[in-house]
Amino acid sequence: MRKTIIAGNWKMNKDARETEEFCVELGLYLGRHNEDRVLPLIAPGFPFLTRALEILSGLPAAVAGQDVSSHAAGAYTGEVAAGQLRSLGLTHCIIGHSERRQYHGESDAEIRAKLLQLKSSGLIPIVCVGESLAQRENGETEQVVLAQMNGCFEQVDLETGREAVVAYEPVWAIGTGKTATAEQAQEVHGIIRTWLLQRYGADIAGRISILYGGSVKPGNLAELLQQPDIDGGLIGGASLQIGDFCAMLDTAVKVVRGDAEC
Ligand code: PGA
Repeated sequence: MRKTIIAGNWKMNKDARETEEFCVELGLYLGRHNEDRVLPLIAPGFPFLTRALEILSGLPAAVAGQDVSSHAAGAYTGEVAAGQLRSLGLTHCIIGHSERRQYHGESDAEIRAKLLQLKSSGLIPIVCVGESLAQRENGETEQVVLAQMNGCFEQVDLETGREAVVAYEPVWAIGTGKTATAEQAQEVHGIIRTWLLQRYGADIAGRISILYGGSVKPGNLAELLQQPDIDGGLIGGASLQIGDFCAMLDTAVKVVRGDAEC
């Protein structure tokens, strides 16, 4: 039904040579392992997308952008448009990451504009939502996450087969070594799934992968993936080493095949 996605968000890490080496290794791994229900995805820096796509061409892996412009084209120095990403052969793009929200002041309205650009270019958005530590401690998690969902998806139609991906990333768990427990994560994923169900109906809600992000690593992935509404990980630090990334792909394959131990 929906895929388990193991997504590496490389952020501003890896140069041309490092990107190439990782992709060659990933290609070798994918030549040996194949499981249709698990999609490996990497999001390298913009300058290296073409090379990553070339090396992974024909392999069952996706390459994503880390961000996109909220405009279609024109005088926006430094920006990259959805159509430009699409012309490379990209399939996915992350939007609304908490680092974009925090350091670049991105609002839900802007993220929604980016989502619409991606949709009109045929790219699948990976929409990030998540609460801060203060918001969690104030008991505002549900309210914050649903406000982000409402803002990002306001009057956005989704069609079967061209859905979005949602990533729940509690800000306090990103890069801090603090992971939400599998129960804490499932609780929010369940809330997001219910929201999707009410908004888009059972068919589309059932097909949308909801990824968890925030200090995911090989040692904690299995337990997270065994939750009913956790359909993968959006992984920063631990996605940078090919050994760890392949170990997490192995874990995902085991979980979908029902033979994971945790
Ligand atoms: P982390 O980052 O895995 O290093 O916590 C996750 C993310 O920001 O997407």
